[in-house]
Amino acid sequence: MMETIQRTIQFSEPTVGEAEYLAVQRAIQMKSLGGDGKFCRETEKLICEMFNVKHALLTTSCTHALELAMMTLELKPGDEVILPSFTFTSTANVIIRQGAVPVFVDIDPDTFNIDASKIEAAITPNTRVIMPVHYAGQGCDMDAIMDIAKRHNLYVVEDAAQGVGANWNGRALGTIGDIGCFSFHATKNISCGEGGAFLTNNTKLAHKAEIIREKGTNRAAFLRGEVDKYTWVSLGSSFVLTDMLAALLKVQLERTAELIGNRKAIWNTYYSGTAELEAKGLVKRPVFHQNATNNGHIFALLINNGRRDEIMSAMKKRGISCTFHYVPLHSSPFMVDYFNGNVANLPVTDYVSESLLRLPMFAHLSLLDVEYILTQLNEVFN
Ligand SMILES: Cc1ncc(COP(=O)(O)O)c(C=O)c1O
Repeated sequence: MMETIQRTIQFSEPTVGEAEYLAVQRAIQMKSLGGDGKFCRETEKLICEMFNVKHALLTTSCTHALELAMMTLELKPGDEVILPSFTFTSTANVIIRQGAVPVFVDIDPDTFNIDASKIEAAITPNTRVIMPVHYAGQGCDMDAIMDIAKRHNLYVVEDAAQGVGANWNGRALGTIGDIGCFSFHATKNISCGEGGAFLTNNTKLAHKAEIIREKGTNRAAFLRGEVDKYTWVSLGSSFVLTDMLAALLKVQLERTAELIGNRKAIWNTYYSGTAELEAKGLVKRPVFHQNATNNGHIFALLINNGRRDEIMSAMKKRGISCTFHYVPLHSSPFMVDYFNGNVANLPVTDYVSESLLRLPMFAHLSLLDVEYILTQLNEVFN
């Protein structure tokens, strides 16, 4: 007989409290609601210091930061961009919105990141950009990717939506390529609900991006006192973050050690608590490359023997919300139409997508709940 549900455990929840509330209240009290104001500037400065990057532009989302990157690099129809198919739709949407073409490359079976050894075979005379996605906050092989980009004269735009607070070879994810993009969505390690950042060490790209972000105007230069009036100087859009959310984000960034520390403790408990399942051949636990640090963003297991959906629904019946992802982009209805049915052959992506299960993860998930989740998980396998 199935035991009755003792607890309900959500998959993800933002960890926010009094300090975040007071920060938003302060922005409102100061009537600082627009974008690129005092709080945005302070938060951008903090991001530059924390992640050792020259320029940080806050945006309304990581999707918009990626879109801003594509606009800044003047991606044009016919240009090609190399990316994994095992990612969120945003990584590819921003390419197609410019009229450029996504070229999907398979992933590594251990890290679920783009397989750097397969990138060169995908390069053509039309390739302009490589977009590595740091899955679960684990850095892609950025040494190999930067080397390929240099030899073929390509830009690198890091989708570091999940990479906030993790490093590759001692450098913060999102600061290694020409441009990097963070997400501060409600599900992320550091969150302001909806938000993102565009990072670069290239001052020319930063100046171009700040104009596009502000509807094609040089308002940012005006606010710095560099011009005496601001005007329309290029094609642009509206990607600035409101000061209220920038104020909240600053508090979250200041809590980075605590928020990521908690996630890592949860991650480590899951890791040791699933060792036996792995020894029995029932699951495969996450594998980290020696150059990558872990920010505890996601704990994902591969469930062997085609049992993922069965295990996921058994956990749900016990009140525990576990989720899968991603439905691979290359075989999504939109991409099948786009490529007239010529679906790329990406066997590792297909296998990982069919087998992957994520366990609940958020910074205030108690270790008692983590132990409970592990007990339930071990039981459903028996
Ligand atoms: C890999 C990846 N890229 C981009 C995004 C988009 O981020 P946002 O929701 O901030 O637009 C996400 C969101 O989950 C993501 O996981």
